[in-house]
Amino acid sequence: MKVILGITGASGSILAQRFLETADAEIHLVISSNSDQVIQYETGHDSSSFRKMASFSYDDKDVAARISSGSFIFNAMVVMPCSMNTLAKIAAGISDSLITRAAAVALKERRRLILVPREMPLSEIALENMIRITRAGGIIAAAMPAFYTKPRSVEDMVDFMVGRVMDLCGMDNTLVKRWKEEERD
Ligand SMILES: Cc1cc2nc3c(=O)[nH]c(=O)nc-3n(C[C@H](O)[C@H](O)[C@H](O)COP(=O)(O)O)c2cc1C
Repeated sequence: MKVILGITGASGSILAQRFLETADAEIHLVISSNSDQVIQYETGHDSSSFRKMASFSYDDKDVAARISSGSFIFNAMVVMPCSMNTLAKIAAGISDSLITRAAAVALKERRRLILVPREMPLSEIALENMIRITRAGGIIAAAMPAFYTKPRSVEDMVDFMVGRVMDLCGMDNTLVKRWKEEERD
């Protein structure tokens, strides 16, 4: 399975980190320049440690990279975390970076596009942008943990959210504690 992973400057770098650590997929990674400082602030590592976990990584300014073309075949594109800035650009059809270009291509080629925004509260503008993307075929999978799984740590919450994103990609995973399935531990 081939997955494009875009990381943007919303809070939640740990979600992308966990995805990179556990995804059973060939990951094509793009990190926005604004997310560099969030990654550093939240994880204490610079983004090079994220790049090392990916199969391929690209510069967000390189709009000529191979994933910018509709001829690049992939199973899903995930933007996680997705900033309101990037979400607004995707909703407006703006493609001025590799992440926004690849997302526009995913929509036009009718491929799976999963955005994981993290913001609260949400303005009417943000909600309208989410509706627009949903109507265009994208999936808004906001970073919202479940509590029925009785999480005991931040890591438990992260695993639930990342596992559900993997489900949406069609990727096998053992991160999600499934409702009424036998306890794993
Ligand atoms: C520490 C930190 C946390 C941030 N958290 C969020 C957030 O949760 N959601 C969001 O939409 N923007 C957040 N931002 C703002 C974005 O980083 C900013 O809008 C940036 O322009 C996004 O650029 P990008 O979409 O190219 O990555 C945060 C910024 C910083 C410095």
